[in-house]
Amino acid sequence: MSTVVKLGGSVITRKNEPFSARSDTIYELAEEISNYLRENKKHGLLLVHGGGSFGHPLVRECLEKIGYVNTQCFARVAFYMDLLNHLVTEALLASEVPAVRITPRSICWGVNYGECDFGVVGKLMSSGLVPVLYGDIILSGSESRVLSGDDIVWYLTRSLGLKKVIFVTDVNGVYDKDPKLHKDARVLSNMHVSRVLKEASFWEVPDVTGGMLNKLRKSLLLGIKDVKIYVINGFVPGNLLSALEEKNVVGSILWV
Ligand SMILES: Nc1ncnc2c1ncn2[C@@H]1O[C@H](COP(=O)(O)OP(=O)(O)OP(=O)(O)O)[C@@H](O)[C@H]1O
Ligand SMILES: [Mg+2]
Repeated sequence: MSTVVKLGGSVITRKNEPFSARSDTIYELAEEISNYLRENKKHGLLLVHGGGSFGHPLVRECLEKIGYVNTQCFARVAFYMDLLNHLVTEALLASEVPAVRITPRSICWGVNYGECDFGVVGKLMSSGLVPVLYGDIILSGSESRVLSGDDIVWYLTRSLGLKKVIFVTDVNGVYDKDPKLHKDARVLSNMHVSRVLKEASFWEVPDVTGGMLNKLRKSLLLGIKDVKIYVINGFVPGNLLSALEEKNVVGSILWV
């Protein structure tokens, strides 16, 4: 069964420190991916990563200063996202994961409905390679737009008929309410996404593309069906490997 794993920017970077990658965490996650692939050679795997502090603050600065993403901003965001992708891919290669970068701005031309040509992604995956995509700045007509890693996950899922999605995040799963404010907050699991959206409250994150709510809602907006979703804590050692191997996780197991 082919799986897409989204390595959240909240895990692979320090979101409150611009351009700060969590190298140790990236290497640990790469090692777990490698362990999984060693035992499951025939299962296709796709990776997507978020922008974290390499993407969101730059875009926000441009939007606040000039109201849109001009060519200078476009080029800078592209550069820093490529840089973060380089760090992720480097760690994957060090763990012998045959990772290969696919730059979304080269294959996507819109941000709303999956206006991307994923043909090459599917072919690379079928050849045993592990394509790595990421949240990116892209051209939609003549306008610059941010295409979130979360959206790419769902577009890939629909386009390539994937059945399993793993969101690696900095939280223990999807909470019914903010655990920082409510001691009795609990992690929701074993339910359909539409029920999660009814039962949970979501709080703001400093993201230009939204936090947990957008991650989950997009699957419904796109009419995606029969997909198992993991939202797991990427700081818990072994947690990603457990999700890949369908074992117990610290996180939410949901479906859509
Ligand atoms: N009900 C909720 N349950 C869990 N987390 C929530 C909820 N509502 C909001 N959040 C926030 O969503 C965040 C995770 O989404 P966020 O987009 O910040 O991370 P990410 O996807 O790892 O980052 P990036 O977009 O850079 O890839 C959590 O850190 C948490 O603060
Ligand atoms: Mg986000």
